[in-house]
Amino acid sequence: MTDRLATAWSSSLRLGLPIVNAPMGGVAGGRLAAAVSAAGGLGMIGMGSSGSTAALRAQLDAHRAAPGFDAALPFGIGVVDWKIREHPDLLDLAVDTRPTLLSVSFGDRFDWVDRARDAGIRTATQVYAPEQARVAGDAGVDVLVARGADGGGHGDPTGALLPLLDAVLEVVDLPVLAAGGVASPRSLAAVLAAGAAGAWIGTALSATVESLAPAEAKDTLVAARADETVLTRAYDVIEGWPWPARFLNRVVRNGFTDRWTDGVDALEADDALRADAAAAAPPAVDAGVGVGRIDSVEPVAAILARLGVGAMQLLRDASPDR
Ligand SMILES: Cc1cc2nc3c(=O)[nH]c(=O)nc-3n(C[C@H](O)[C@H](O)[C@H](O)COP(=O)(O)O)c2cc1C
Repeated sequence: MTDRLATAWSSSLRLGLPIVNAPMGGVAGGRLAAAVSAAGGLGMIGMGSSGSTAALRAQLDAHRAAPGFDAALPFGIGVVDWKIREHPDLLDLAVDTRPTLLSVSFGDRFDWVDRARDAGIRTATQVYAPEQARVAGDAGVDVLVARGADGGGHGDPTGALLPLLDAVLEVVDLPVLAAGGVASPRSLAAVLAAGAAGAWIGTALSATVESLAPAEAKDTLVAARADETVLTRAYDVIEGWPWPARFLNRVVRNGFTDRWTDGVDALEADDALRADAAAAAPPAVDAGVGVGRIDSVEPVAAILARLGVGAMQLLRDASPDR
């Protein structure tokens, strides 16, 4: 074993660590992406449900202005499929920016893949089942993200990460990143030992100094235990986002989610009820079960160093004779 945590995929991108920050809308701005790239990972700028060309331009500016920004380091952009269908100019801008990696999540159409590839951009998408992995691979996607149900934010909660990763690795001959609850050296070591090309980490990087999350949201993440998240559509319904129903949102639970997660049909059907519920709802704090491992708001560099050193040690300990 070498003295550096690396996979064939992370080495091919000249990364110092096989870690990608999830392109979290409203959280993974230019500053977070620059910090992740500077610390050896692949930094991603995320455009979520409220993404726009103006927002992407602002975060690209923030990326270039961020401490530690280095134009020579790889970075990525992530957008949401149903958003680029509504606003094709968002995809145009993402492609014209020529990031190292372009991720399009939450869709089944892959018409964007050839376009990105023609522009010299590698492509990624999140998958929730081996059949989807096959379809995405056949469409030419370069790297797949096996996303388990424990992950934060939106996803199709079909099952736990390790069985999903296992099944996806069986059916494709592509690099596969692991997403969903990877928030500690142990969980990182586990997915790498299982054959992942790297980890795609959201929640553990949202309570960082560099994240765009508001201070109150970071406090909520620090305070929440692993058993205090819930899968819900309630926030999407009050926001009026057109999320396909199979994509549920994992958030830190609160009085609003306790009241409405099982009552979203009533909320959808009644405008006045929805308006009242929306007025009383605290802001959503997207988080996966890895939230239980967040003890404080730290700089990205400290978290990535701890993950890298710790996972390396665990993998060494697991095969001491190598
Ligand atoms: C705050 C937050 C926002 C997210 N926003 C997006 C997004 O805009 N686009 C996307 O593809 N995934 C988004 N995700 C999901 C991530 O891509 C990924 O599946 C998830 O973070 C992995 O699980 P983890 O949070 O346990 O690390 C978001 C996740 C979080 C926590």
